[in-house]
Amino acid sequence: MRKKIVAGNWKMNTGIKDGVALVSDINKELKNVTLPSDVEVIIAPPFTHLTFFEQVTDRNKINIAAQNCATESEGAFTGEISAKMLKSAGCSYIIVGHSERRAYYNETSDILVKKTEQVLKNNMTPIFCCGEKLEDRKSENHFNIVKNQISEGLFHLSDDDFTRIVIAYEPVWAIGTGVTASKEQAQEMHAFIRDIVFRKYGKDISDNLTILYGGSVKPANAQDIFSMPDVDGGLIGGAALKVSFVDIVKAICQ
Ligand code: PGA
Repeated sequence: MRKKIVAGNWKMNTGIKDGVALVSDINKELKNVTLPSDVEVIIAPPFTHLTFFEQVTDRNKINIAAQNCATESEGAFTGEISAKMLKSAGCSYIIVGHSERRAYYNETSDILVKKTEQVLKNNMTPIFCCGEKLEDRKSENHFNIVKNQISEGLFHLSDDDFTRIVIAYEPVWAIGTGVTASKEQAQEMHAFIRDIVFRKYGKDISDNLTILYGGSVKPANAQDIFSMPDVDGGLIGGAALKVSFVDIVKAICQ
């Protein structure tokens, strides 16, 4: 049975003091929630918060993720943070190829291949992001774009390594805009992703692949989107910065 995940991506928000206060409050609120064994909650704070989070979160309830990592494992790469360091800071997941990194930091598929390799090599799970821009959807090129992102970024992986991947479909036009893809649009793309994975890796691997939806998910719409058969949870931005993030977690538990 595939895992269901609700992951909060805090992006470049909060200082250490207010970030630790927020995660402590989320942690407290989660005490009242019984997580089914197939559900995981993840929070990806800024790098600076990671070691503090490890101290204040109940690791049975909250997994810690990083939002990015270096392409290399160590050495003279000023300003970079390696997957190995993130592992030592308590991370079990790393977000790879978020659309903001693709757009603002020119992360190409070649770069994402290297980052994914670093995450896997250090025994963590990559949350590999894909998603089309508005113009791609308008020109009905969205399936091609997503297929290329996934095949270029992931289809070199062995069967064993692919079973360790989580995919997040995040249409760029829905990120931070308040516009959510309809549940039908999300389902259509998730089913498409599962199908291309099926063609490459077969039924077992595609059936067990966790595919998250991201883009303006909030407590009010989470349950609706999560009700779709190929939507296995969400990658949450803005709505992850409030204690009511826990309501999104509750939506996946139903
Ligand atoms: P959003 O961001 O929920 O604020 O739209 C989602 C994301 O970028 O992961």
